[in-house]
Amino acid sequence: MDKIQQVQEEALAAIAEATDLESLNQVRIQYLGKKGSIQELMSEMKSLPKEEKPAFGSKVNVCKQEVSTALEHKQSELESQSLFANLEKEKIDITLEETKLQIGTSHPLVMIQQEIENLFVGMGYTIAEGPEVEEDYYNFELANIPKDHPARDMQDTFYIDPNTLLRTHTTAMQMRELEKAKGKAPIKLICPGKVYRRDDDDATHSHQFMQSEGLVVAENITLADLKGTLEHMANTMFGNGRTIRFRPSYFPFTEPSVEVDVSCPFCNGKGCSVCKGSGWIEILGAGMVHPHVLEMNGFDPEKYSGFAFGVGLERVAMLKYGIDDIRNFYLNDKRFLQNFNRFD
Ligand code: PHE
Repeated sequence: MDKIQQVQEEALAAIAEATDLESLNQVRIQYLGKKGSIQELMSEMKSLPKEEKPAFGSKVNVCKQEVSTALEHKQSELESQSLFANLEKEKIDITLEETKLQIGTSHPLVMIQQEIENLFVGMGYTIAEGPEVEEDYYNFELANIPKDHPARDMQDTFYIDPNTLLRTHTTAMQMRELEKAKGKAPIKLICPGKVYRRDDDDATHSHQFMQSEGLVVAENITLADLKGTLEHMANTMFGNGRTIRFRPSYFPFTEPSVEVDVSCPFCNGKGCSVCKGSGWIEILGAGMVHPHVLEMNGFDPEKYSGFAFGVGLERVAMLKYGIDDIRNFYLNDKRFLQNFNRFD
């Protein structure tokens, strides 16, 4: 009986001392295994006198019970310890400060381009695109500006070779589209894109800038259609209540040609520093497509007429956002671009 007591105490002490599941398993084998101490006690029962057997047997069973229960408790204790240890080890420190993502901004010229595109697509226009490296033929010849025409001087050109140049205006696209239509009207499109001129960069000039051409060719198109369209554009881009006026001008590819002014959105036409007291701001050039241009592109000028305009996107953006130096658009200075962050 003492031996049983001793085995039980030893076993419970060993269980208490086990520090991990592996050593606890060793304890289990040592005491409860087939050749373990408790089994050994059982086999000792055989050699006992008959009357002592029941008491001995039940004490061994109690001992076995106690040891098993202690083992189970210890087992679940060690298991949860190891689970917590693992959780601790695998913990992700979500308190770390995140690296701030730099979110880009739309470039103001892109915003103006999209605004113009949305406006004209809403009126049923399509958007055409074309090459920035252009043939002299489309940039000048088809636009009624033959070689030696003095109007070529108005647009100092970057030539790549005698027949290839960086387009000086989106009118080159207008010519491509007219030619492509093979005399079939109606045509209703805008062509936004970059253009290049050999200007010295300063606050109001840039050797690269953006334009959008507008072109409509159909039967019975008049200057009144042009005026209504541009008035709608002025009201959408610069706010309701804008009026526009036409001043006579000259472009070889339009006849008549006009410069278009919009009533100053800053002073409502009263006169301020932006419009230099005149109440008007010049925004674009336009006109009726020259009959010779229609003819060269295979349209019957007796049947069809059209209007065209070319608007400078920097000019619109400068007015709209109060930007006083055109070079800002091309410096990629984040402090400037950040002003157009729509997420702030
Ligand atoms: N191409 C002209 C320019 O660059 C603008 C324009 C386009 C004028 C279409 C009339 C018609 O200045």
